[in-house]
Amino acid sequence: MKRMTMTGGLLIITACFLAGSHAFAEMPGPDSASLWNYITKVSPYQQWSFWPDHQGVQPGRAPHGPFHKVYVNERALNSVMPPVQYGSIEVKENYNNAKELKAITVMYKVHGYNPKDGDWFWVKYTPEGKAKPFGKPAGCIGCHGTRASNDFILVHEFK
Ligand code: HEC
Repeated sequence: MKRMTMTGGLLIITACFLAGSHAFAEMPGPDSASLWNYITKVSPYQQWSFWPDHQGVQPGRAPHGPFHKVYVNERALNSVMPPVQYGSIEVKENYNNAKELKAITVMYKVHGYNPKDGDWFWVKYTPEGKAKPFGKPAGCIGCHGTRASNDFILVHEFK
């Protein structure tokens, strides 16, 4: 009887461990189709958080458009110092003056993907999920690279 209980306990511990590692196992690779699936279906980004210093709709600059919202996942949010943790994702909704959604730009931190430029996978999607450009576009990296010391992030200042 005692033995049964121990086995039961072990099963519960194993189950908890598997549940805990579940989120990690599901992280997408650095490709635009799996990332789109992840941010719209597996872990819908609209349920994520905002940086404390950049909440909700904010005015923006070129090239991204006049208004935007930047959603961040838990790993980004829990990163207190740059560089942010691997698995961090930032999703930026870009709106025109009429507040219509025009594009979704994403930065995804992938271990070993592009070490010389902060290991970010970059992508710009249409609101329907068509990706262009994506990967390591010189444009995205060139502009965000001005803040490489802040891990290429422009809307949130690490203190
Ligand atoms: C000419 C400069 C420039 C280029 C090129 C550029 N960005 Fe940005 N990006 C910005 C600025 C400025 C912000 C701050 C928010 C704003 O003003 O819209 C920003 C913010 C972001 C954010 C929100 C997180 C952050 O860094 O603060 C994401 C995600 C993003 N850009 C993705 C991209 C992607 C993907 C590309 C390439 C397809 C790209 N950007 C190209 C200037 C640029």
